[in-house]
Amino acid sequence: MPELLVTGCAELLTLRGTVPRRGAAAMRDLGILRDGAIFIHGDRIAAVGPRRGIESLPEARHAEKLDLGGRVVLPGFVDSHTHLVFSESRVGEYEQRISGKSYQEIARNGGGILSSVKALRRSSPHALAVRASSYLEKFAQHGTTTIEAKSGYGLDWGGEAKILHLLSELHQSQPLDVVRTFLGAHVVPPEYRRRPGEYVDLLVRRWIPSVATAGLAEFCDVYCDRGAFTLPQARRILKAARACGLVPRIHAAQIERTGAARLAIELQAASADHLDRIKAADVRALALSNVACTLLPGCNFHLGLPQRAPARHLLDAGAVVALATDFNPGTSPTVSMPMILSLACDQLRMTPAEAISAATINPAYSLRVHDRCGSIEVGKYADLAVFDVADHREIPYHFGVNLCSMTMKRGVVIHPKKP
Ligand code: NIG
Ligand code: FE
Repeated sequence: MPELLVTGCAELLTLRGTVPRRGAAAMRDLGILRDGAIFIHGDRIAAVGPRRGIESLPEARHAEKLDLGGRVVLPGFVDSHTHLVFSESRVGEYEQRISGKSYQEIARNGGGILSSVKALRRSSPHALAVRASSYLEKFAQHGTTTIEAKSGYGLDWGGEAKILHLLSELHQSQPLDVVRTFLGAHVVPPEYRRRPGEYVDLLVRRWIPSVATAGLAEFCDVYCDRGAFTLPQARRILKAARACGLVPRIHAAQIERTGAARLAIELQAASADHLDRIKAADVRALALSNVACTLLPGCNFHLGLPQRAPARHLLDAGAVVALATDFNPGTSPTVSMPMILSLACDQLRMTPAEAISAATINPAYSLRVHDRCGSIEVGKYADLAVFDVADHREIPYHFGVNLCSMTMKRGVVIHPKKP
């Protein structure tokens, strides 16, 4: 197996220690080694520590050497909320919003999620695969090595299965780890517009058991909000999912405070996402739970929404805070975790260190991959992001600039690509 000695790390952010991170002090502790080194054996980290110690390991002496020339090295980002598979951009809606139409108005007029559903149903698996693969390359170029990806633009069995099969294939065929979430409960599809209860029955009785039996997803998500699914519907869907062995996640309190955040706690969901509209009592309850609070500031930025998730309160209360892109064509068309870090710092008042913890080890916990991803520790995958800065705070500081100069997944350099 190939052996590699990585040196020249001005700062090596190990993120070692307790999982998940809670509270400002733990979130700010990145386990930084100055002039650290990593010894990689095959796809795993075999040793990590101060350069002198690692260099003098007998097994490291004959390893291939990689000198990063004084850069910042961190665990590859774990992006725990994406809608990776869709068939076209919704740039027309973007322009309509700039001219004053709201996201909800556009959805009511035939745009929004349902327009992506229409387009996806028409798309061939091949066309979807080409598009998704090209996005995955772009994720890698921005330092991401693991992503969660949801279905939810099919909303008929053919479409949902097409997405989930594609995600399984992508997990096998390209370098990033892809964790799959079934989001048949994204919105009620047009065929069931007048009988949403029947659609929920279909999800609960047929599709969720089928997804679980065929091993097509690890998680099940519900968009529980105005215009999507109600709290009782979400409870029913996620209970059925849990009974089949799919772990719940939930889109909560993006537009309205429906009680979805409390439902996440009740059902021991892995994550409650968005949380823009939660109140102080919700913050306290979430902080006492193991539910990851996944904040998606790209959405608020792209939609130009003034409200903000109470990130500071969640952090200070000791909740498990994570950050993700919410990559999707309607509300957050970005693959860039560095941009999300900038938004988290500038708009959610998180410190750069807190944002980095929220983009690595905590989302790894929320995806249940923290035994192999999210920190640079012995035994974990050699998943690294290298940034062309000497101080990690410069990653969010230079907003809108991609300073990721190298990405490694399981010991293999995947960005830049070899010519
Ligand atoms: O997370 N909220 C639901 N889903 C997406 C929006 C998807 C779309 O508009 O296509 C979100 O913001
Ligand atoms: Fe989403």
